[in-house]
This record gives sequence, structure tokens and C-alpha cells, in this order.
Amino acid sequence: MKILLLHGPNLNLLGTREPEVYGSMTLDDINEKMISLGEELGAEVICLQSNHEGALIDALHDARTWANGVVFNPGGYTHTSVALRDAISAIVIPVIEVHLSNVYAREEFRHTSLVSAVCKGKVSGFGWRSYELGLRGLVDIIKV
Ligand code: DQA
Repeated sequence: MKILLLHGPNLNLLGTREPEVYGSMTLDDINEKMISLGEELGAEVICLQSNHEGALIDALHDARTWANGVVFNPGGYTHTSVALRDAISAIVIPVIEVHLSNVYAREEFRHTSLVSAVCKGKVSGFGWRSYELGLRGLVDIIKV
């Protein structure tokens, strides 16, 4: 089983970016944890981050050809991107939306997600553990 762990804009700055909101773990720390969790669960986890909407769309299209599913934190594009939503609906493999913070406890513009309706599931508010919960859920869904 192969899983794409995809991170959107500004997540490359994790660790130093608003640690009171996003925690002190870096993106590399999270990726390492998810790669080892994947090994435990019998899945190879391939990690990718981009600050560019088009590159995220390309990664989703490409994942169609090699991945069984995607764990995706679209960052700020969650709230704005029709194009990312369309890319998720265009691929058949399951996508899990994850957020470190509880987006519903924050500014109102973060309460709207353009991607939730086309994702298989969503995890928000557990810090780096949102990725863990998302990955566990996705692997379970794929195994059924
Ligand atoms: C985020 C929440 C988004 O609203 C924000 O723009 C991010 C990070 C999260 O992981 O909590 O960049 O996706």
C-alpha cells in the first residue's frame, strides 16, 4: 500500500510558524513520524509539500497513478480553492483532509472548507496527531 502525505502552503515553516497554534514540531518531524507509523501499518508513506496551488494539483493527479490514498493538509487553500476541490473529485482514490488546528475555533473564514465535501473524511484540532488519526483511518478504509 502506498500513501501520499501532501502538505500545502506555509506548512514548510512548521516549528517556527505560530507555535501556539500549530505546535513546535517541524514538518520533517511530522513526516518522519508518519513514515514510521506507515511502516507499522503496512503502508509506504511518501511526503510532499508545496506552496503552489498548481503543484498540489499536479501531485494529486500524479497520485492517481501510484497511490492508494492521500492524507492532505491544504493549508489556506482549504478555504479558497475550487481548483483543488475539483482535483480531489477528479481522482478516484480516497483523500483525507487534515488540519493541525481546530479550524472551527478560529476566524470565521476558516469555518468554510471547499474541499471537505469531496474528501472521504476530515480530522482537525489534534495538532500533529491529526495526521496520525488521518493516516490510521485512511489505511483502515483502504484495507476494507
Ligand atoms: C491549517 C488551517 C488553515 O486555516 C491554515 O491556513 C493553515 C493550516 C491547519 O493545519 O490547521 O495553513 O490547515
